[in-house]
Amino acid sequence: MSRKGKKPATDRPLAVVVLAAGVGKRMRSATAKVLHPLAGRPLLAHVLGQTARLDPVRSVVVVGHQAEAVAAVVGERAVCVTQREQLGTGHAVAAARRALRGFSGDVMVVSGDVPLLRAATLKKLLRRHRSSKALATVLTMVVDDPSGYGRILRQEEGCFRIVEHADAGREEREIDEVNSGIYCFDARFLLRTLSALDQDNAQAEYYLTDLIEKASAKGTAAALVAEDESELMGVDSRLGLARAEALMQERLILGWMERGVTFLDPASVYLSVDVRMGRDCVIGPGVRLEGATRLGRECVVDGSAFLKDTVVGDSSHVRWGVVADGARIGKTVQVGPYSHLRPEAELGAESHIGNFVEVKKSKIGRGSKANHLSYIGDATVGRDVNIGAGTITCNYDGFAKHRTEVGDRVQIGSDTQLVAPVKVGADCYVAAGSTVTSDVAPGSLVFNDKRQQVRSGWVEGF
Ligand code: UD1
Repeated sequence: MSRKGKKPATDRPLAVVVLAAGVGKRMRSATAKVLHPLAGRPLLAHVLGQTARLDPVRSVVVVGHQAEAVAAVVGERAVCVTQREQLGTGHAVAAARRALRGFSGDVMVVSGDVPLLRAATLKKLLRRHRSSKALATVLTMVVDDPSGYGRILRQEEGCFRIVEHADAGREEREIDEVNSGIYCFDARFLLRTLSALDQDNAQAEYYLTDLIEKASAKGTAAALVAEDESELMGVDSRLGLARAEALMQERLILGWMERGVTFLDPASVYLSVDVRMGRDCVIGPGVRLEGATRLGRECVVDGSAFLKDTVVGDSSHVRWGVVADGARIGKTVQVGPYSHLRPEAELGAESHIGNFVEVKKSKIGRGSKANHLSYIGDATVGRDVNIGAGTITCNYDGFAKHRTEVGDRVQIGSDTQLVAPVKVGADCYVAAGSTVTSDVAPGSLVFNDKRQQVRSGWVEGF
């Protein structure tokens, strides 16, 4: 129960019911609509993130289509109840009746497909509902194109009804104040009145919206007009998803700008909600930061980079065209252009990983460099090592992966193969073009006996 508010009305307990049983036919997808991702999270997860901020004492999600997959997204955040057949929004809320048994207070009903919704708006709705002592309060919005929505037919104060688009007459369809699909109900009124709903309408559905007229008849119905209708945009098609994504990206990027991040071309950047960035980062064009990617302070990401679940230390420079997934980049590191960091790549502070270098499941020590055309996999590389162009760790023998260890300050000449399992001790020099197949003691020079042979004048004779 929320005890933060000072007004006594806020002491009423709150339950939240999120409707997420529908198919979302217009998405034309094998995936249930509420599972489609937006800024890296399923639509439903955005909604649950916001409703959680109201501290409800009970949270219920009504699942139906792809119930198991939807319930997996819900996890511990709410109780899932199943609506086996999708017979309308009233029928969906009725499926939550058992989960609400014994509850008295307010019930907020929210659609699972409004990912841009803000907790602040829900709080306002709740305040309006409580201050007007209404049996039902609807969040409405004024839109340019009301088609498809339920229209708000205002009568006298505290009294109105909602007519669905399919049931509306021509004049009613002119009304541009519409139902957002988000409501607060007095729990007792809701639980008692749900069973009075019928399917006597154009879609033969149990309309939750019919409760508004019943609330008007029995007491008071209230409405709150949303200030920003874009927040209440329901996603019901691919176009709607793309529009919502654009708005969400704009919102996220603006938020990071306010926290001191520069974007050179904000419209071309994609961020997941879970990304974090420090002050004075500079993000270039075409950057995609996914998952739980973290950038420290003063990082520069030049552009056209894809970073997923990757941690970047302060003052590091991710140059053009870097792909990193599950990597840890230390402080003041340079990566790229065109480097590929795969899971468990760990780059120590001040290290450099350059163009066309791939690093996988390897630790690169502080100040070490691999600047050109290398593959470093399953390796531990010490500090201040220089890995010459074209060096390859041969980590796979067709059956298993093996490790390579390179000690501190080793100089590896270009075009070297390190055939794992193998260890090169500290301070070694590995000559260019070497194939290292067995362990080398610290301080050694390693080379293969491939003497250069020259036949002068041979070409002319040939
Ligand atoms: C509903 C409202 C309409 C409002 C619109 C806002 C009704 C009758 N109409 O329209 O006034 O303008 O929302 O978007 O309520 N769902 C279920 N089970 C069902 C049916 C729906 O869980 O049997 C869920 C859907 O998954 C979705 C939400 O309820 O998350 C809204 O359903 P949708 O079909 O989009 O709404 P409409 O009924 O068209």
